[in-house]
Amino acid sequence: MDDEILNNQPLDAGEESIEKSLRPNRLDQYIGQQALKERLAVYIQAALQREEPLDHVLLYGPPGLGKTTLAMVIANELGVNIRTTTGPAIEKSGDLLALLNELTPGDVLFIDEIHRMPRAVEEMLYSAMEDYYVDIIVGEGQVARPVHFPLPPFTLIGATTRAGMLSQPLRDRFGIVEHMNYYNARELTDIVQRSADIFDTEIQSAGAFELARRSRGTPRVANRLLRRVRDFAMNRQQNLIDDQLVDYALQLLEVDVAGLDQVDHKILHTMIDYYQGGPVGVNTIAANIGEEVETIESMYEPYLLQIGFLQRTPRGRVATQAAYEHLQIPFENKEH
Ligand SMILES: Nc1ncnc2c1ncn2[C@@H]1O[C@H](COP(=O)(O)OP(=O)(O)OP(=O)(O)O)[C@@H](O)[C@H]1O
Ligand SMILES: [Mg+2]
Repeated sequence: MDDEILNNQPLDAGEESIEKSLRPNRLDQYIGQQALKERLAVYIQAALQREEPLDHVLLYGPPGLGKTTLAMVIANELGVNIRTTTGPAIEKSGDLLALLNELTPGDVLFIDEIHRMPRAVEEMLYSAMEDYYVDIIVGEGQVARPVHFPLPPFTLIGATTRAGMLSQPLRDRFGIVEHMNYYNARELTDIVQRSADIFDTEIQSAGAFELARRSRGTPRVANRLLRRVRDFAMNRQQNLIDDQLVDYALQLLEVDVAGLDQVDHKILHTMIDYYQGGPVGVNTIAANIGEEVETIESMYEPYLLQIGFLQRTPRGRVATQAAYEHLQIPFENKEH
């Protein structure tokens, strides 16, 4: 249950609609990612002035940091439609052609998890991105013939949690490549306050800060925790959420003071208790705790690296002294 609350398992329909209601529509409502926003504002303005589509944009970074939201904000600022899909959903070249063909000039096509597109689809995308056309083979055997399809000019926005898994030719075709960073506690506090306003929930600033601080630098986590804390407030018939209530709720949710959940704890404990803190391979860790390697690599590890609890070495992952201290395990016990 906790993994679900905290992380980025597929959202159910209800959650998806809640996420939608929380999405900012304009760049100036989009909190944080300051430098990225400033650059984007310039590119958007320039594209509008030239009356050309915006260059293709690749957004990469851990789940829940606002890539989808930003893609929608960009389309809004450009005043164009956005069509969204995901890499795995485009199974055949024909699916891609159908999507591209429906665009009106200047529109945004958003492809989430773009690293998971089938090869043939990806290759078809190259000419579409570069020169707005695709060549496809129509018919089979003797009657097979190439057909040249011109496309409306468009902007592709691709999102991925794993930039390293994108092929070089695809990556090279994006004019704008941006990494999304974890949010700091101040920015997340603003996000929590904003969401609380939308939910018509009152939260004290100390409460919002405590929640923000324990949200793994991730807006989606902050919003999910806020909803849970709101349930506790209701349960206790408490109108104002304060830091004590946040702390009480997060303890019950098994989110520790650093924002780590049970899976983070399992990862660190496996490394420390069974492998003297490492180096240990991610496959070994995954097998020990019964999680997918992919889940660990895209969801858990980036944050543990960010806060300095983990290090990556050529021989595997190592738990740092800070991790030992956080778990209150004496570091000198480490046998090396
Ligand atoms: N900068 C922001 N300001 C306010 N709210 C934000 C911001 N970024 C994200 N959010 C909120 O966080 C939630 C998750 O954002 P979003 O779905 O865009 O993340 P994502 O990076 O696309 O995640 P994934 O990689 O899982 O697709 C949304 O509900 C959105 O409202
Ligand atoms: Mg998304």
